[in-house]
Amino acid sequence: MSSGLAVLCLLLLHTGAHGFGILPEKSESHLEITERAILNATVQACRALAQTEGTDFTSPTQPFTVENVAVACNAPQSSKAFRQAIQFITLMNVRVDIRHALNASFHFDEENFIQGRKIIAEGVQVIKASNKQENYEAARKKLGEVMHPLQDFYSHSNWVELGKKYPNPNLIRSDTSIGNLTDESRATCRSCNGDDCTNNILEDIIEEQILTSGYFGIVPFVSTKPKGKCSHGGGVDQTSKLDPKGGINKDTFSSDHGHLHTEAANMAVAATSELLEDLRGAAGDKQFLQMVGISRGSSKALCFVIDTTSSMREDIEAVKSVTSSIINSEVGTENEPSVYILVPFNDPEFGPLIKTSDPTVFKNVINTLTASGGGDNPELSLSGLQLALSGAPLNSEIFLFTDAPAKDRNLRSTVIALIERMQSVVNFFITNSGAVNRRRRRRSDRLSASDAQLYRDLAQTSGGQAIEVTKSELPAAVSIITESTSPSLVTLLQAARNPGKADNFTFIVDETVTNLRVYITGSSITFTVISPTGESQQSTDSSGSLISTSQSVGNFKTLQLNKQVGMWEINMVSTNPYTLKVIGETL
Ligand SMILES: *[C@@H]1O[C@H](CO)[C@@H](O)[C@H](O)[C@H]1NC(C)=O
Ligand SMILES: *[C@@H]1O[C@H](CO)[C@@H](O)[C@H](O)[C@H]1NC(C)=O
Ligand SMILES: *[C@@H]1O[C@H](CO)[C@@H](O)[C@H](O)[C@H]1NC(C)=O
Ligand SMILES: *[C@@H]1O[C@H](CO)[C@@H](O)[C@H](O)[C@H]1NC(C)=O
Repeated sequence: MSSGLAVLCLLLLHTGAHGFGILPEKSESHLEITERAILNATVQACRALAQTEGTDFTSPTQPFTVENVAVACNAPQSSKAFRQAIQFITLMNVRVDIRHALNASFHFDEENFIQGRKIIAEGVQVIKASNKQENYEAARKKLGEVMHPLQDFYSHSNWVELGKKYPNPNLIRSDTSIGNLTDESRATCRSCNGDDCTNNILEDIIEEQILTSGYFGIVPFVSTKPKGKCSHGGGVDQTSKLDPKGGINKDTFSSDHGHLHTEAANMAVAATSELLEDLRGAAGDKQFLQMVGISRGSSKALCFVIDTTSSMREDIEAVKSVTSSIINSEVGTENEPSVYILVPFNDPEFGPLIKTSDPTVFKNVINTLTASGGGDNPELSLSGLQLALSGAPLNSEIFLFTDAPAKDRNLRSTVIALIERMQSVVNFFITNSGAVNRRRRRRSDRLSASDAQLYRDLAQTSGGQAIEVTKSELPAAVSIITESTSPSLVTLLQAARNPGKADNFTFIVDETVTNLRVYITGSSITFTVISPTGESQQSTDSSGSLISTSQSVGNFKTLQLNKQVGMWEINMVSTNPYTLKVIGETL
């Protein structure tokens, strides 16, 4: 995109001249329309689900909000994921105005009805297929993209002016008539100016119920508008300055047809609700709710991403045994995952993603893994992680096992963005430090500082740990990490220093916090813990009164602190990179 065009796009965004306004103002924008429709459709899905399950359903009071809908759905713990899903869908919707600013089909401009409908109908198929594969992330992305033209139809076409009281049901299917279309030669509008643009659509067009929409162009004095056709209208649209002058859009109250804005916006909400209804019909209530971020009961996925290249030959049995003990420790508890995911990676292959809700089936699949192939040392670990992140539900727990650096470092920022969006925690177990086995890698093949840092950065972003251990230390490291997966966990402090330097950190413990633990990764680190009453204990001192237990595995150290309410301090001393995390449990 040239910078000139980029500026114009910003201008379009700013004025909201192209499609329902984007900046929230008094008029309804794609933002409110999308949120209202999702809240509406979610209430209906939860009502239907309650009916199937024979439980009571109390409709939330109007206006619907993320919180009151999540509560009515019996899933208050999903509020955050629900809000994130709505925000993401909305972002994908609004992004159409940037990515496809000048493509009339995405906005139902210029009588591009067949092409616009094609975008929607094909998109709907993609969403349904993604939901079937439980790839809700892909479904949400496409959903946002499809909502944009669907909503624009009511603002940019004359559907509302034709006196229609209901949304056009044929925008989401491909094998039906979308309405009475006309060709380029037939005039649809007369000139109007300023305040009198309410009746500029020709009477015969209205009488014969012919569908039309406005032309739109941003280049002055150059118009592709055929003779007699309507324009979109507004300050940015240059075609509306040429005969027939004026426009027909209903994007805001101050648009040429702004008097119909509320009707168009309500129709867009209803149409979006019906689209969602159609998707729910195809997916079923539970899966539909997952798509919008609502899950009842545990929605946790337990996800393993495992390096299966030949250098892992000696570690893979250890990995099988620790994964199996993680699974066993959670089955039957309130922390039991609802779904299990495995992504093996090798080089040049990675995947496939294997998903099951049966822990026994899952263990059997893991037990069939063998380590072979892989060629050179670095492997496609980030590709495997990316696949796992996009296939797992929000807030999942991911364990990645490898002994090699990432070959696909170029995916770093994509993976970070995905971690942030999915709010998943990624723990890395790198079985490459300590004793170097002659038959495995040469010393020069070991993880370099920057290789290790990449894993540490990703772990840190996600709130997880990157732990370098030997094969024999692996079970101990894994058990420390899995001990801390209680749902009532709170993070009191999280910090990292790279390069390492001496620094002081504080955190606050209140009455409700119990089971205080400190996690530190990094090598050659000493520190001093200072309690709220001013007592202090050094890391080298095993007889102090603050640290009740301390354990070290590989580059990973964990401490249990004796509880004291108030502000604690940790003074870290190291020139190597380190991470620091303090967690506790709340009632
Ligand atoms: C508009 O987008 C559609 C769908 O992606 C594409 O087929 C068409 O070629 C685009 N039109 C223009 C003018 O870029
Ligand atoms: C098409 O035109 C006919 C007659 O003018 C009208 O009855 C019908 O409702 C129109 N169809 C649509 C979808 O507007
Ligand atoms: C809610 O959704 C239904 C269809 O699912 C639709 O008919 C109705 O108009 C929607 N309500 C609003 C306020 O748009
Ligand atoms: C940390 O605190 C100690 C004393 O509490 C102080 O001597 C030291 O300079 C501080 N270090 C930094 C980096 O602020």
